[in-house]
Amino acid sequence: MRRPCATWCARQRPKTRARDDPSRSDASKIWRTTEKRGPGVKPRPRTNSVVKPGDLLARIASLDHYRITNSRRCRTRAFSLSSPVDPRKSVSESYDRVATDYAARMFHELDGKPIDRALLDDVATQANGLICDLGCGPGHIARYLHERGAVVCGIDISPGMIAQARRLTAGLRFEVGDLRALSFADETVSAVVAMYSLIHLDPVELGLAINEIARVLTRNGIFLAGFHSGHEVRHVDDLWGHRVELDFHFFEPGEITNALEAAGLKVTRVVEREPYAGVEVETRRFYTVAAKPGH
Ligand SMILES: C[S@@+](CC[C@H](N)C(=O)[O-])C[C@H]1O[C@@H](n2cnc3c(N)ncnc32)[C@H](O)[C@@H]1O
Repeated sequence: MRRPCATWCARQRPKTRARDDPSRSDASKIWRTTEKRGPGVKPRPRTNSVVKPGDLLARIASLDHYRITNSRRCRTRAFSLSSPVDPRKSVSESYDRVATDYAARMFHELDGKPIDRALLDDVATQANGLICDLGCGPGHIARYLHERGAVVCGIDISPGMIAQARRLTAGLRFEVGDLRALSFADETVSAVVAMYSLIHLDPVELGLAINEIARVLTRNGIFLAGFHSGHEVRHVDDLWGHRVELDFHFFEPGEITNALEAAGLKVTRVVEREPYAGVEVETRRFYTVAAKPGH
């Protein structure tokens, strides 16, 4: 992945909405049919423990399907995936299958989400450089930030999602990538937004990803992420009629705060809300805002 550069940043200007945006549709209860057919809800033990980078590598090294490799850039991202049962592959293939429908149903969801918009407005106002939308899906959050004058890029593990994002918003940079191993140099990203994209990580992988996010954030950089609130792991194998293999990890705010603080970030705000009926899956949500301390 190319690094953000001044030329590329300068090219970006807020744009009006593209004519080929998908039509709006009711995105609510997307899991309803799958819950009937899938294995349902798995309990996840509560965890408030802090995961340290060393623990993460030890845990990963103990799994046969991970191969530790050297990395000169980041101590917590030194691995690659080499197994046919790679869990990230199932995530990326699943989102590839639903990417077109996801874009059609979700691209305008922010219209019905005032709290999300307010949080994103704050990020757009406060960031003074590149904002990275991690797990950007079809790119509507990146686009929203871009329309508010921010310099934005989007990264997603699903090539299908990235294709949708590029189709729907020309002129923004969207790239395939894994949020656990970012291609940015240390301290080069002013803000990271991760709306419901850390939810496919178990608590150990979550710690790994947050360490990586902390690495790329500039001093005083901002982190904003959205989560489903709770303790369960919800397995979904059918989404809008497409076969998928996805685990949705619910978290409690304290778990996220612990992981962020373990990575050296300071939590500045936690916002909890009930679901917006008719707009989204009816789960309780929370958002965590954090900052990387300055010098
Ligand atoms: C529930 S969707 C959220 C998409 C978008 N942020 C939104 O709010 O609608 C989760 C997204 O995260 C992406 N994703 C999951 N794991 C990822 C990873 N390890 N690296 C990058 N993207 C990932 C998926 O491909 C998917 O597009």
